[in-house]
Amino acid sequence: MRIGPYDISPSLVVAPMAGVTDRPFRSLCRRMGAGLAVAEMVSADPRLRDTAKSRQRTDHAGEAGPVTAQIAGADPQWLADAARHNVALGAHVIDINMGCPAKKVCNVAAGSALLRDEPLVARILEAVVAAVPVPVTLKIRTGWDHSSRNAVQVARIAERCGIQALTVHGRTRADAFEGAAEYDTIAEVKAAVRIPVIANGDIVDPEGARAVLRATGADALMIGRGAFGRPWLFREIAHFLETGERLPPPDAREWSAIVTGHLDDIHAFYGEHSGVRFARKHVGWYVHGLPGGEVLREQVNQASTSAAQRAALQAWCVLLVAREQSDPAAWARSAAPLPRPAYNNHRTSAGRERARVEEMHR
Ligand SMILES: Cc1cc2nc3c(=O)[nH]c(=O)nc-3n(C[C@H](O)[C@H](O)[C@H](O)COP(=O)(O)O)c2cc1C
Repeated sequence: MRIGPYDISPSLVVAPMAGVTDRPFRSLCRRMGAGLAVAEMVSADPRLRDTAKSRQRTDHAGEAGPVTAQIAGADPQWLADAARHNVALGAHVIDINMGCPAKKVCNVAAGSALLRDEPLVARILEAVVAAVPVPVTLKIRTGWDHSSRNAVQVARIAERCGIQALTVHGRTRADAFEGAAEYDTIAEVKAAVRIPVIANGDIVDPEGARAVLRATGADALMIGRGAFGRPWLFREIAHFLETGERLPPPDAREWSAIVTGHLDDIHAFYGEHSGVRFARKHVGWYVHGLPGGEVLREQVNQASTSAAQRAALQAWCVLLVAREQSDPAAWARSAAPLPRPAYNNHRTSAGRERARVEEMHR
């Protein structure tokens, strides 16, 4: 897939996820095979520009390009200014969020709420495209609710306004994260426009990725929750799409190196106090479903310093490597694809998803 001058290869994109896809996680996913990673959304409200959170979210130091910043808001001029600001901070691509159902975002008629106001969508896109010399992309849901699925109209507006790639999450705003994503609307969008279309929603394994590509004809896939605790999912999908064969999961040694490196990066990025807190959820995802993982999760949650978290992880990794050596089959079983862990109110639908993907394979 091309976005302006950038060749995105493989065509696998890390979804923007507030509170998750910070610089350490984005960088890790890129190293693990993602072709692009979208940063967590930042508000276009200029009053929020200098908060610690905004500064962290716009920190792209050392990040592999093209650096993609996501902006959220409803005011065309604020969004245009935010786009310029983010380009000045190092963004090579600006993504506009019209997909977020969060109350915090929708109450000010931003995020997916904008889908109800197509003239405003056009004004925003024109203002942002005119404001910056870099490619501007857009992320939407399929519509506000099931009776107003207007993704195709919005896609045409986006194309007309100079948007260079469009991500469609296969749910409406009313769906929030409930039910399974649907891909028919994404296929309709793909057929209606010539700009690259990125399909998003419930892609959690290589077979599912291939099924979504086939069902939609999309140019690329965006993956969010499926990569929680499994950043290597990107290389697994890339390999499967290329060869039709499954890559084995990382062995215990590689798993240990990835998780330890990620923990160190989180501590370095956020500093001692916040780093210890941010590390907890990632470690929880990494050990989800691994035999004995609860023990490490508990230790990391209890630890109040980065050194204590690291020591707990290292001790656990030693056991893991020893266990794999004594019983390689046990590791292969435990490292098999797992349903995604729940994330706060973003419920999982792994069972329904698997059934639907199986149906698509038939
Ligand atoms: C914790 C969390 C935070 C999210 N934050 C954002 C965000 O900042 N911007 C955005 O456009 N979408 C956001 N999303 C939506 C994801 O980008 C993606 O569209 C959605 O999770 C569906 O993809 P998935 O099924 O692969 O997770 C978020 C989702 C989650 C679970």
